[in-house]
Amino acid sequence: MADLVNLTIDGRAVQVPPQTLVIDAAKTVGIEIPAFCYYEGLTLQAACRMCLVEVEKMPKMMTACTLPVAEGMIVRTETEQVKQARKYTLEFLLTNHPLDCPVCDKGGECELQDMVFRYGAGESRYTEEKVHTPEKQFSPVVFFDAPRCILCFRCVRICNEGLGVGALGVINRGVVSEIAPNVGDHLECDECGACIDICPVGALTSGIYRYQTRPWEMAHVGTICTHCGDGCKTTLGTRNDEIIRGNNRDRSGINGEFLCIKGRYAFDFYNHPERLQAPMLRVNGKLEEVSWARALEAVGKKFKQTAEAGGSFGVIGSNHTSNEENFYLQKFARQVLKTNNIDHHRTGDVVTLLDSLSGKTAQLATVADLYDRKAVLVLGADLALEHPLLSFQIRANYRHHQAHVYAITPGPVREDKYSVASIRVGKSGAAKVGGDLGVVPGREVGATSSGPGSAPVGGPGVVPNAEAGAHFEPVHGAGSANGSPSGFVHPHNVTAVPADYFGALESLRDKLKAEPELVVVFDDSFKGDDVRKLVEFTESLGIPVKFVCLVDYANSRGAADMGLTPELLPGYKPSGTPGLHVAEMIANDLDVVWVVGANPLKGAVKRKAGFLVVQDMFLTETAQQADVVLPAGSAYEKNGTVTNTTGEVQQLTRAINTMGAKPDLEIMGFIAREMGVAAQLGPWLPQVVFEEIRKNVRGYSLPMPVIATGGAAQTMPVNGRIPVENRPDLVRSDHNGLFASGTLGRYSKVLNSVIESRLSR
Ligand code: SF4
Ligand code: SF4
Ligand code: SF4
Ligand code: FES
Repeated sequence: MADLVNLTIDGRAVQVPPQTLVIDAAKTVGIEIPAFCYYEGLTLQAACRMCLVEVEKMPKMMTACTLPVAEGMIVRTETEQVKQARKYTLEFLLTNHPLDCPVCDKGGECELQDMVFRYGAGESRYTEEKVHTPEKQFSPVVFFDAPRCILCFRCVRICNEGLGVGALGVINRGVVSEIAPNVGDHLECDECGACIDICPVGALTSGIYRYQTRPWEMAHVGTICTHCGDGCKTTLGTRNDEIIRGNNRDRSGINGEFLCIKGRYAFDFYNHPERLQAPMLRVNGKLEEVSWARALEAVGKKFKQTAEAGGSFGVIGSNHTSNEENFYLQKFARQVLKTNNIDHHRTGDVVTLLDSLSGKTAQLATVADLYDRKAVLVLGADLALEHPLLSFQIRANYRHHQAHVYAITPGPVREDKYSVASIRVGKSGAAKVGGDLGVVPGREVGATSSGPGSAPVGGPGVVPNAEAGAHFEPVHGAGSANGSPSGFVHPHNVTAVPADYFGALESLRDKLKAEPELVVVFDDSFKGDDVRKLVEFTESLGIPVKFVCLVDYANSRGAADMGLTPELLPGYKPSGTPGLHVAEMIANDLDVVWVVGANPLKGAVKRKAGFLVVQDMFLTETAQQADVVLPAGSAYEKNGTVTNTTGEVQQLTRAINTMGAKPDLEIMGFIAREMGVAAQLGPWLPQVVFEEIRKNVRGYSLPMPVIATGGAAQTMPVNGRIPVENRPDLVRSDHNGLFASGTLGRYSKVLNSVIESRLSR
């Protein structure tokens, strides 16, 4: 144990690695040193003085949060002097604090409240009038009550260091020091709410949660965010079948505490006034509400008659529904409806990647790999907007481990701020980012100020920035309506050289070769042969490489793994005779089309199907044209599993019920019962279907205790080539930005209010 440091804390022998802080060393032997400004993972601040301890041979008390251990050090955390110091610190913190715990949102889970109970004095010696300033609203999501603030700067640091946004700072000095937005009186930021959650007191509060409830009145349910493909775990605070808040303060799951605005706040689509709560049947050309029994009877009868008559079916599944639902749906289609006409919207070319990796040493990366590996290469995607968790992980890897980050993208990205090298490729990404929200004009990307492919000016590989002066280039238009965060990037690592991704990769080859290992993250800029070429390129580097193929939605990856494609069965086995894909099913006069959680007729596409059945939460463009609409439960209203963009399986846990809606799996089961085929398909219980998945889908025989207790387990669904022709031409990512996530985002009041507030500025 030669490389460990020996010290004594409160008479107990402690051994920890060099450079460990005394506050952390104490934790290893169960000794708590109280702290406010110290926060694991953020830079040291030493602002609050709550962590003072006595150290033998040191003349004054020391802050344990900044003091590294030393051999033979003797620390005391419970002396009279230390106790007195804590009391005084708390007394100072309370001089202007309003003591409005009974109405404060943080009451019951406030660190200051807890500390005062534990370490504080029973009374204050201050009789002077307290300084009061009125509450401010920084954004639709973030409110600030200055008198409650204890100036620990956690919010400033999480925003700047964790998110890379830097929207908060401090103004004034002394007793009138105040946390404030860095631009005017409002936040130009990701609206992620991380600053609110990390605030130890009730100074920063959430526009969604404030004054709704007390923490002990809620049930706390851990489940998975239903928006993007990153698969963040979220803990939903629920009361009376309502979701009151989302956070992940227990740091469980693959995302630790991280949630973006969608995971933290955009659960509110579930109680949108337009949410469907009764089945609808087309009667005399009009959809009217009917009972579940009548709607299911109509569907069962039609499905049965069509199947018996040898009629044609099309089945369109979803990348939001669970693995169990997707597996059951394809089984229903193939075994009962006798069709391979089953598909979903494909958002990343997972199939070609899995095929290309078969039998080779390269593997699939996990979310944790993005934090641990020595180097990361981002290709195409604007991760901060489209995959916020992955962007957060890569940034944390850079901050904590000095990981080397490379970005080859059509437009500026947040990774430019700290990348070893960023290259702007000539291929325009304007269409994709312009479609971020679908409601605002997109920003032009695909060009730096000097334009794609233009000759470097100002030194080798340096692009000067005409807009922002000689030294800094805006990463994104500050506060633009498409959710772009503000921020600045040093330009010397940004080059605009090659016309395409492979030209850019070639120019990076030597740098990448010198890395000990690499994770490559790519979006739908790479599909088909380009994915194969990318894998070949990385093999030529001679270093271990892992991949992340980005997909858009909560279960996009699971939909592919579960065989929601005409050419592939669950586990990527060939289906035999491939059926029709989505566009063909819409274009053909099929007798019956069954749409589960998708909206293929958006954009004024007219239905051709003889009979159209839609399961959905809302009366989408597709549902409006249906013969039968069955109200479906959201991800927060069902049990099951989903697989994220890195192939990690996690558990969905039902948090609430919405009256009238049913989980898609249950609806499918009821249709099977109406048709008299329920026994053939088996029970429609998520745990039973998952057992079937475990037995039938390679890679899904996962350690259940890990998943059941809120962990994640990665799948490897292919071991060999995928022996069918893939359809990369069908892959199309929606490139949703921070404030959009397809249909769900459209029905989120929070996301819409943020968009509106930006448009009104
Ligand atoms: S980006 Fe997040 S942490 Fe920063 S100010 Fe906005 S809500 Fe707070
Ligand atoms: S607002 Fe909260 S997190 Fe920010 S400095 Fe004040 S107390 Fe700390
Ligand atoms: S939208 Fe994506 S990044 Fe945001 S909380 Fe949900 S899963 Fe995480
Ligand atoms: S926790 Fe050490 S000074 Fe604040």
